[in-house]
Amino acid sequence: MKDLFSIRGKKILVTGGARGIGKTVAEHLLDAGAQVGLVDINAGQAEETAAALAAKTGGACAAFGCDVTDPEAVTRTFANFIARFGTLDAVFNNAGITYFKEAEALSPEEWKKVIDVNLNGVFYVAQAAARCFLQENKAGSIVNTASMSGLIVNIPQRQASYNTSKSAVVHLTKSLAVEWAAHNIRVNCISPGYIRTDMTGSVRQDWVAWWEDLIPFKRMGTPEELVGAVIYLISDASTYTSGANLVIDGCFTCI
Ligand SMILES: NC(=O)c1ccc[n+]([C@@H]2O[C@H](COP(=O)([O-])OP(=O)(O)OC[C@H]3O[C@@H](n4cnc5c(N)ncnc54)[C@H](O)[C@@H]3O)[C@@H](O)[C@H]2O)c1
Repeated sequence: MKDLFSIRGKKILVTGGARGIGKTVAEHLLDAGAQVGLVDINAGQAEETAAALAAKTGGACAAFGCDVTDPEAVTRTFANFIARFGTLDAVFNNAGITYFKEAEALSPEEWKKVIDVNLNGVFYVAQAAARCFLQENKAGSIVNTASMSGLIVNIPQRQASYNTSKSAVVHLTKSLAVEWAAHNIRVNCISPGYIRTDMTGSVRQDWVAWWEDLIPFKRMGTPEELVGAVIYLISDASTYTSGANLVIDGCFTCI
């Protein structure tokens, strides 16, 4: 029982790890004894974060600059991760962007950008991870970051591209979970509600007030409140859990 949730010694790749949810989860993975690679399009910030987290936790943390929408760069990044850490045990597939704009005004480029990062990028990263697990014939865990926006339509902001991309992540998670079940590769996702990060930090204050009024918990969540779910889904506490979507939203989607 003592080791049920242990991730000690696991080698974990975190995308979108330079800041926000990815950074906070990475810090707690390191605290729990894992070794962590931060993958981010913002290579400079990823380097700074990796150095800060290594100093703070005493754990092994490295940065890898990579745009997850570039499948060849993703493949190279996984090769570099394995060259650095020796193997791969799990991925927190978390990089994402949001775009607020009325659907009738959205350009094709804006639509494609959100789908490219939030859906295609998640697929390329999951695929590269599975190839690593299959290559070594080992079990692995992939945890995708979807969103409650994949289940409901947020108001008052307009974000059809984001909602659509996150809904697709939920079904991609189930599809990959079934495809790779026979290989002992588990694929799950978390669906956060409104979480205080840089992504949500710069939005209009009247929106935040609107959101907090709608949330039964009457407040936004913190990145720390997602950590336990990610550790659970990576650890051996969840060996019979795959294709699941863990909603962490202060009851937002219950009503
Ligand atoms: N903050 C929220 O309220 C909330 C709610 C639900 C879901 N999410 C999801 O959680 C994830 C993390 O969100 P966050 O709030 O920490 O956002 P954030 O903007 O603070 O951090 C996202 C990170 O992803 C990186 N990134 C963006 N595009 C990338 C690309 N093409 N390749 C590699 N890295 C890239 C950014 O550089 C950044 O470091 C996202 O998938 C987001 O959609 C956030």
